[in-house]
Amino acid sequence: MKLPRRFFQPLAAGAPEPFRDLPIKLERMIHFVPPHNEKVRARVPELAKTVDVVLGNLEDAVPADQKEAARNGFVAMAKATDFAASGTGLWTRINALNSPWILDDLFTLVAEVGDKLDVVMVPKVEGPWDIHYIDQLLAQLEARHGVRKPILVHAILETAEGVANVDAIACASPRMHGMSLGPADLAASRGMKTTRVGGGHPDYRVLSDPKGEEARASAQQDLWHYTIARMVDACMANGIKAFYGPFGDFSDSAACEVQFRNAFLMGCAGAWTLHPSQVALAKTVFAPDPAEVNFAARIVEAMPDGTGAVMIDGKMQDDATWKQAKVIVDLARLVAE
Ligand code: GLV
Ligand code: MG
Repeated sequence: MKLPRRFFQPLAAGAPEPFRDLPIKLERMIHFVPPHNEKVRARVPELAKTVDVVLGNLEDAVPADQKEAARNGFVAMAKATDFAASGTGLWTRINALNSPWILDDLFTLVAEVGDKLDVVMVPKVEGPWDIHYIDQLLAQLEARHGVRKPILVHAILETAEGVANVDAIACASPRMHGMSLGPADLAASRGMKTTRVGGGHPDYRVLSDPKGEEARASAQQDLWHYTIARMVDACMANGIKAFYGPFGDFSDSAACEVQFRNAFLMGCAGAWTLHPSQVALAKTVFAPDPAEVNFAARIVEAMPDGTGAVMIDGKMQDDATWKQAKVIVDLARLVAE
C-alpha cells in the first residue's frame, strides 16, 4: 500500500530522492525514551522489537544541563540498534525553534545518524513558517552529509496559534508526516485551568437534562474533541496522519484507553506512549475490533466493485459504507502483516 505524496524537487546535488510513494506503516504508538538515561538506552534494542516507533526525546522533560547528554545518547542509541531490521521507526523530538539547542540538535543528529532518522518531531509549531524553516535546514544538512532518504517532519499541535493555523501547517511541506495533539502545552497556551497531561477533567461538563441519574452520569468531560477533529481534518485533507499525544496519568489506564479509543474512532492513527504499560494499550486500541473487521469484510465482499446498495443484518450498505469498510479491512491487514 502506498500513500500518494506530492512531487518534491530536490534543491541541490546530493539532496535526497523526491518524496513519492512513501510506504504506509503501522504507527500505533510513538514510544518516548529519554536518551540521556543510560539504563533506558540499554533496553532500546529489545524495546525496538515491541513498538512501532521509538522516539528519542530531546525537548521538555530533559533538564537544560542534560541536553547535550540527550543528543549524544540519541546518537549512541541510533548506532547501537538496527531499527530497520524490525521495521521500527526511529524518531526524535528536537527542542523548540526559539530555544538555544535546536541547531545543535539537528546538526548533530543529521551528521551522525541522518540515514537512520525517519522523522523529526517539531514542538510548539505556530504556523507554516516554522515548518519551512525546518524543511530548508534539513535539506541543507541532508545535502551536506549525503543523506539519501528524506527525513520527514511531524508537528506538535500545542499552541493556540498552531491550532488557528492547522490547515496551513498540514500542507506546509512535502516532508510533513503528520501531527500530534500536545495537550499539556496547548492547555497552557490557551489559558486552560488544568494541570493534567491529556485526558478529561472532572469539572468540565455539559449541562444535561436534570431528569434521571443516567443523563447526569453521561456528562461530557472531553476537553480535546474540538482540537482532535480539526487536526484530523487538516491531516486527512493533506494525506498525512493525526495522532493523540501524551496521557500523563500512568495510574489511570482506563481513562487513557478511553482517550486513545476516542482518538482512534475519530481518525487518529496512534498515540504517544510514555510508559511501558501504555504500549499494550495502544496496540489493542489502534487496531480494529475483530467483530467490526468481520462485518466490514462482509460489506467489501457483498459489493465487489464498491457500488450499489445491499442489506446486511438489516443495515443498509452503499458506496459510502463500502469506503468505511475498506478503511477497517485495510488497517486489519496491515496489523496482521
Ligand atoms: C506535549 O508535548 C504536550 O505539551 O502535551
Ligand atoms: Mg509540549
